[in-house]
Amino acid sequence: MIYTLTANPSLDYIVRVKNLEIGETNRAYETEIFAGGKGFNVSSVLSALGYDSIASGFTAGFSGAELERLLEARSFKKDFIPCSGRTRINVKLKAQEETEINGTGIEIDDAQVEELFDHYKAIADGDVLILSGSIPGCLDKDFYARILDSQKDKDVLFIVDASGELLAKSLPCHPFLVKPNQAEIEELLGIKIHDDDELIAAGRKLQEAGASNVLISRGAKGAMLIGEDGAIYEAGCPQGKLVNSVGSGDSMVAGFVAGWIDTHSLEEAFVQGIYCGSATAFCADLAQKEDIDALKASSPITVCRTA
Ligand SMILES: Nc1ncnc2c1ncn2[C@@H]1O[C@H](COP(=O)(O)OP(=O)(O)OP(=O)(O)O)[C@@H](O)[C@H]1O
Ligand SMILES: [Mg+2]
Repeated sequence: MIYTLTANPSLDYIVRVKNLEIGETNRAYETEIFAGGKGFNVSSVLSALGYDSIASGFTAGFSGAELERLLEARSFKKDFIPCSGRTRINVKLKAQEETEINGTGIEIDDAQVEELFDHYKAIADGDVLILSGSIPGCLDKDFYARILDSQKDKDVLFIVDASGELLAKSLPCHPFLVKPNQAEIEELLGIKIHDDDELIAAGRKLQEAGASNVLISRGAKGAMLIGEDGAIYEAGCPQGKLVNSVGSGDSMVAGFVAGWIDTHSLEEAFVQGIYCGSATAFCADLAQKEDIDALKASSPITVCRTA
């Protein structure tokens, strides 16, 4: 089974305003509410690729109830752990410029963390555990490391898509895959990367710190994989019209995992990850199976592998 975790989900409230005037009463011409959560995105794209998963997440209050309602239609298995407070509401204000205000909210106590650990006792040899995104401020930055540590006696594939200290602290637990983008690597290492050689060197530092494979996503420029086989895989991505890149990174993670399970080839997993990331970038929402298949049929990807 594949397990995904969204420790810090949100309700995303999109507000479109023609001409925002700060300090005035403004009228939106359109509002929308979406379920936000990177682990849920990964589970959705895994479903599209034919893989079932169990998506855990902490939820609370009326916004948590609405989040759960919005996720009902998605076909993965849900494992919501009820908490106090309120699932955060992130406001995305789309006017002349885009402004985002991420809310606060949820309170998670030790008993609720224990509940998650209890559920994760079901994880078995051969399973996959994907930890995606940030954690609420009430949890310590070693949260992912603690989860991975609790599973270390099992033969589980760990995937971590996080940033900063949360990512840094999980590296010694030897995740099979981490998927930073370039900005996240720069932040983690406190450096500025100017060229491919520096990017490779930075990726290798994450390997030295414990990650087996480092998949660096580069938006429209494609991706690079620093493989556990010692090779570097580089590829551009299919050309297309960018519609909405939210969830591209999560789609890439889902594609890589599915590709790896299918083939046990790093190169195939890498290519599948790029297709899924790009298919989502070219869609209004997360990519569906038809979107991914159409992209594969129309846009071959050439991988440059250097040993
Ligand atoms: N504009 C684009 N055109 C084509 N493909 C894209 C584009 N943006 C993203 N992708 C695809 O999706 C992959 C992941 O995107 P990106 O690097 O933006 O991830 P990210 O920064 O982790 O995103 P997020 O965490 O917000 O989902 C890229 O490597 C690429 O394959
Ligand atoms: Mg990302």
